[in-house]
Amino acid sequence: MSGFEYANAPESKAIADIATSYGLFIGGKFVEPKKGKSFNTINPANEEILSKVGYADKLDIDLAVKSARSAFTKVWSKMPAKERGKYLYRIARILQERAREFAVVETLDNGKPIRESRDTDIPLAAAHFFYHAGWADKLDYAGLGSKPKPVGVVGQIIPWNFPLLMLAWKIAPALAAGNTVVLKPAETTPLTALLFAQVCQQAGLPDGVVNIVTGDGITGAALVNHSDINKIAFTGSTEVGKAIARSISNTKKSATLELGGKAANLVFDDAAIDEAVEGIVNGIFFNQGHVCCAGSRLLVQENVADEVLEKLQKRMSLIRVGDPMDKNTDLGAINSAEQLKRIHEISNTGDAEGANRWSPDCKLPSKGFWYPPTIFTGVSQSHRIARDEIFGPVLSVLSFRTPAEGIEKANNTMYGLSAGVWSDKGSKILWAAKQLKAGVIWSNTFNKFDPASPFGGYKESGWGREGGRHGLAGYLTSQVKESK
Ligand code: NAI
Ligand code: MG
Repeated sequence: MSGFEYANAPESKAIADIATSYGLFIGGKFVEPKKGKSFNTINPANEEILSKVGYADKLDIDLAVKSARSAFTKVWSKMPAKERGKYLYRIARILQERAREFAVVETLDNGKPIRESRDTDIPLAAAHFFYHAGWADKLDYAGLGSKPKPVGVVGQIIPWNFPLLMLAWKIAPALAAGNTVVLKPAETTPLTALLFAQVCQQAGLPDGVVNIVTGDGITGAALVNHSDINKIAFTGSTEVGKAIARSISNTKKSATLELGGKAANLVFDDAAIDEAVEGIVNGIFFNQGHVCCAGSRLLVQENVADEVLEKLQKRMSLIRVGDPMDKNTDLGAINSAEQLKRIHEISNTGDAEGANRWSPDCKLPSKGFWYPPTIFTGVSQSHRIARDEIFGPVLSVLSFRTPAEGIEKANNTMYGLSAGVWSDKGSKILWAAKQLKAGVIWSNTFNKFDPASPFGGYKESGWGREGGRHGLAGYLTSQVKESK
């Protein structure tokens, strides 16, 4: 730090009322898992146990799917669409009313800075419910065919990087379209999903429309393989996404898969450099870099590379790493010991393959899981740190000489989820955007999300889109195919 210190500004833990244990949310009630198994969820910033949650196996999944099927057939698919919309509005409003409580629970369970859960995760989750509430009674006019129908019972599996927000991305469109769901949160971050189950009760949502089953990959696989599921919606690793695609290949189940990324953030020499540096920092250090669309490959035009790097290092020295509950914190804890191990493993190949590592001076807490903001220079395209998703606060810096070379390097990846373009010239931005093979392209900004805007990738970044009208299409049948 440069001599300028902030006083501590901790958010209060007392705002969250976390129970010592939770059951599974099936048929509108919390029930014990059939075999009585459970597991702990911890706070990754200090390794303290927060709560004990139920471990669902095949038997519990079967109960949850039956409850979702019964709610689908008897209640939800029969309800006038306008009435469905009212429930979604109610959920959205309750999320807003309880936003502070949700932000605290999210930060404790995940390790992300309270500033991010308070200002990004929770408001966006509520926005997703508001947006989709509006669609519920307008589906006939969405250009998705006349009288599109819900697909039925949807199995939804979400990751740990944006727990409540990913739940909202999954549940809001599914319910708006008339489906019922069984959702499995990630094993390290189950708490906001369980709090959301209480919101469903508070909103008077009919029993069985939303079921929440906690567990790990085995629980997830049991959901994928259940014979009475019509569709799987998954966000997570490309590896598990491929396994899911294999599992359902011989069935009538449909799927949307939201997988990994290795986004290029392209800085042209005519860009506003100070703004670009802010965008680079936001692109890779937001949410500790646990972001599928993170700008993890910086591609900077050679003639401005020194200036960008110098300003970037200066800016990185101001990043405050530490207690996620402190409102001044920029970079929180890594979500789990496993993820920290993965970040170390991939980043260490950067050293071994000859790239140059740099991190600002920063003191990491002694307990919990931490990784300093890090950049690698001298990276070439063949290096593993330029190809594999690290999913941590680690940026690989590469350069290019001509715009055409920049585009070619940007597209040289097995992924295609997002990209960033920094330039003062609108024509150059449009030219670049047209050639970049990525589902989302930000210009002179990064990591901007809106429920009305579809999100998804090319190549190994997944199948389908989430958000907007395009996302709704994945939850309806008898759609008209989009013309390209
Ligand atoms: P993961 O893909 O194993 O976990 C994501 C979710 O899938 C969790 O709820 C998990 O319980 C579930 N799951 C695991 N195995 C499953 C199976 N066979 N069938 C059904 N569900 C299953 O991801 P993990 O291990 O937590 O992270 C590994 C890497 O994946 C990260 O380093 C990152 O590169 C990537 N990742 C990408 C995410 C994204 O937003 N696209 C989110 C999380 C991880
Ligand atoms: Mg946790």
